[in-house]
Amino acid sequence: MISVQPQTAPSSPPGTATPRSYLVKLLDDAYDQLLQGDVVRGLETLMAALCEARSSVHEGAWKELVSVCRQHPICTVLHEDPLTNRSFARPRGYAGDAVMLDMIYGLPHQSDPSDLGSSIFQALVEHCNTSKAVRHRRSLIAGAVDRMPGGSQLRILSIASGHLRESELTNAIKDGAIKEWVCLDQDADSLLECVRAYGNQVITTVSGSVRQVLSGKLSLGEFDFVYAAGLFDYLSTPVARALLARMLTMLRPGGKFLVANFTTTCAEAGYMEAFMDWWLIYRDELQMKALMDLPGSPLTVNVQVFTDPWKTIVYAVGERSLHDTNSRMSGLALCEA
Ligand SMILES: C[S@@+](CC[C@H](N)C(=O)[O-])C[C@H]1O[C@@H](n2cnc3c(N)ncnc32)[C@H](O)[C@@H]1O
Repeated sequence: MISVQPQTAPSSPPGTATPRSYLVKLLDDAYDQLLQGDVVRGLETLMAALCEARSSVHEGAWKELVSVCRQHPICTVLHEDPLTNRSFARPRGYAGDAVMLDMIYGLPHQSDPSDLGSSIFQALVEHCNTSKAVRHRRSLIAGAVDRMPGGSQLRILSIASGHLRESELTNAIKDGAIKEWVCLDQDADSLLECVRAYGNQVITTVSGSVRQVLSGKLSLGEFDFVYAAGLFDYLSTPVARALLARMLTMLRPGGKFLVANFTTTCAEAGYMEAFMDWWLIYRDELQMKALMDLPGSPLTVNVQVFTDPWKTIVYAVGERSLHDTNSRMSGLALCEA
């Protein structure tokens, strides 16, 4: 298992090495371990070294260390892994596209890696906390959909839907509980895949961006559940707050919302930045709660903030209040495992 705790990562012995020389030594060690076929140990060495380096220097110095990582021969080896490679190469113009999510979900994808690349891929997808947390997020959303109060008139909106793979895990569609599940995304290829895989009268697609949602140019109607997974980590705080406020206005009274964000304790952030060129905005529970503080909003919301078991993704879930408070369901009830 690849497990990195920031407090247990090796630290540079004081006075004996610069962060740069110490990191290079650990990159050398990890490189040797990978080439010897000890892939899990090599990745553990690497993740711990990057975690320590990232947390021990300021942002500018970390960016210099990232350059060091990319010039080290380990970088070429790591880019034999199709997940790391796709993130770095950005074939759709950004890191973290829905094809990468498919890889993490264990779904079929096109790639023809070397044996070592394949082993690195397997280790990252099976053992990293980030991969486990992303799969858990998918199940958690599917469970939230299935726990929505019954009926056949539910309208759901996924903002930045990607391929809407959570829909595969739900029973609500086959049970006829959903009237419409709208997938909104700015990536045309992702929406094409949604239509190819699931398109029908229930699952529909809307090509649109957060900017368009905020400008009010997209008129999507009211929903029983509005959520965004894999999006808030790309949004600055002012945009995230504005989007959240807009999401709440799209809810029917009693409607639920969910947003997810990678946490500041994400153990693989150093790897993602250094070798995947995948830079996210990490938030902790307090920062998530602060996002929910929307002074001036005419709406009352009942919010719960919690972090997953890997301390990798933080969630804010809740509901727009009803006048009839007896029919309230708490945010946590929405997302009970
Ligand atoms: C990491 S994927 C998440 C996909 C899906 N929600 C999931 O959890 O599997 C991120 C998605 O966000 C979309 N996205 C990113 N920024 C966006 C924006 N400003 N407006 C609309 N979609 C956006 C991308 O196109 C991509 O499909």
